[in-house]
Amino acid sequence: MTSTSTTAPTTHAKLTAWVEQTAQLCQPDSVRWCDGSKAEYQEMLDIMVKGGTARWLDKTKRPNSVLIFSDPADVARVEDRTFICSKNKADAGPTNNWADPAEMKTKLNALFKGCMKGRTLYVIPFSMGPIGSPIAHIGVELTDSPYVVANMHLMTRVGSKVLDVLGSDGPFVPCLHSVGYPLVDEKGNKKPDLAWPCNATNKYITHFPETREILSFGSGYGGNALLGKKCFALRIASVMARDQGWMAEHMLILKLTSPKGVVKFVAAAFPSACGKTNLAMMEPTLKGWKVECVGDDIAWMKFRPRKSGPNKGKLALHAINPEAGFFGVAPGTSDHSNPNAMRSVDQNAIFTNCALTDDGDVWWEDMTDEPPAHLIDWNGNDWSPHSNKKAAHPNARFTAPASQCPVIAPEWQDPDGVPIDAILFGGRRASVVPLVNEALSWQHGTFLGSVMSSEKTAAAAGKVGELRRDPMAMLPFCGYNMADYWAHWLKIGQTANAELPKIVYVNWFRKSPDGKFLWPGYGENSRVLKWVFERCEGTAKAVDTPIGRLPEPGALDITGLGMDSTDMAELLKVDKQGWLSEVPSIREHFAQFGDKMPKGLVEELDALEKRLKA
Ligand code: GTP
Ligand code: SPV
Ligand code: MN
Repeated sequence: MTSTSTTAPTTHAKLTAWVEQTAQLCQPDSVRWCDGSKAEYQEMLDIMVKGGTARWLDKTKRPNSVLIFSDPADVARVEDRTFICSKNKADAGPTNNWADPAEMKTKLNALFKGCMKGRTLYVIPFSMGPIGSPIAHIGVELTDSPYVVANMHLMTRVGSKVLDVLGSDGPFVPCLHSVGYPLVDEKGNKKPDLAWPCNATNKYITHFPETREILSFGSGYGGNALLGKKCFALRIASVMARDQGWMAEHMLILKLTSPKGVVKFVAAAFPSACGKTNLAMMEPTLKGWKVECVGDDIAWMKFRPRKSGPNKGKLALHAINPEAGFFGVAPGTSDHSNPNAMRSVDQNAIFTNCALTDDGDVWWEDMTDEPPAHLIDWNGNDWSPHSNKKAAHPNARFTAPASQCPVIAPEWQDPDGVPIDAILFGGRRASVVPLVNEALSWQHGTFLGSVMSSEKTAAAAGKVGELRRDPMAMLPFCGYNMADYWAHWLKIGQTANAELPKIVYVNWFRKSPDGKFLWPGYGENSRVLKWVFERCEGTAKAVDTPIGRLPEPGALDITGLGMDSTDMAELLKVDKQGWLSEVPSIREHFAQFGDKMPKGLVEELDALEKRLKA
């Protein structure tokens, strides 16, 4: 193997030393520094096709796109194999798996030893956020997976320019990843590769918040392996944000323009597979309204003076999308539900665990009204509509450059970010939580976020449909004690001379007793966005209720929707009994955090209970 420091396109001694040391540990056949070029991306696709990992889709139907089937044991984030390795267990908190950092390092050292034999170690310098933006941060991922390299090309800004910004001693987050499948057996003899190499039984997704390092072993899928995403941009970044006074959130960012041309920026935290991508690029059904996408999964927000408008110069939370692409849920995406996502994946896309059509295209559940008569399913088997299983995995995903989205906002790469006017929280709740409910204050909004709950989805391994508390949609992604994270939210709310976004709790997933969604959702959610917009402007009417401010009758624009009035009443009902019966479980939820529990949130709970009982 050639020495890495002599071939490294950087003078960054710490970086080259780390690469060198990792190469000695993992023992790859070669080390390759990625330059982020188009040619390099194409080469990764070729490597995957030649190695049997990927297949080209039809060149006319889906130009320059590939389909990949993963190992059935590697299809989603693995929360039970995800660890926060802070020095003190209390800093990980009761909602994270904790492991002692030294013990975890010892364990991982043994696993990483020789784990890249027979493979190439790729060095991926990447920027989360526009290169050089004051809100952006740099990471370097070392991986033995060409799939990861290709995906990182789409999801982040990779390459030489990042090394330029890094200079000879700039800060970066080291992210080490291996699929954990060396190409030698125990005796040291060569063994063939698999189409989807992974280590199905020995996965570790680990984070070291004090030293800001990430080590991931054994999985090649999504957030387990594309380390810029959940591992860096949420778990490590949430710790950086706490220390530096900003916010790293599991939020979409959208630009909302009214028929009069007035613009508001809205961020929204919904749990995994609960509608961020869909809301971020929706086609409003309300005439004259426009939604454009800034980001669909992660927001980094910092206080900065507004650059324009009536509040010019005043501090507002400015958000950037740290990502450069979409890693979106495929099933359910259609020309009807999300045409802008469909156009985003027309070409230059990577599809994972979708089904293959006979004419070389992809298909997934609900892409079309009628399923094709024959498919190859995500397991590589023949499939027909009579097969008793799904053709695509429920967590099948597409990866595509954000620039391909027809409604990408012109501001999406603004290094200064966009000023956020409203923050939405939401989740899948079949009952109790109304369609829309504006918080009474920042503290009340933080409370609503802290008690959010949602039905589990296929985005993480485990049981689907189970109701669980997922505060701020950050349960699997907060890199430190959740109670300290809430305290950080409350502190943000006390920033002097700052204009805070309104906080609004929404729920598109209310169901009738027969199990049908009461609210049509998708583009019709523009009706709720309109009300939020008008609340920001101070024009829409609301009524104070024990749980928050709900639209006054008639204030929510449902013209032309043809909604049944009893359904509408149900959607906007304040279910006092339902909320009251949740109070004990909220107390239990808060009790987990003991002394760390912020007083402000306990006060909000007491006040809520009092209002409900009044
Ligand atoms: P992650 O990428 O996992 O963080 O997910 P996400 O929040 O971006 O979820 P996404 O927008 O991909 O939506 C996931 C699923 O929710 C899809 O199957 C959608 O069809 C469905 N969905 C999205 N919006 C709505 C809605 O307004 N109503 C209903 N009923 N379903 C929705
Ligand atoms: C999520 O699970 O919230 C995702 C997909 O956005 S993954 O990148 O796998 O985390
Ligand atoms: Mn997500």
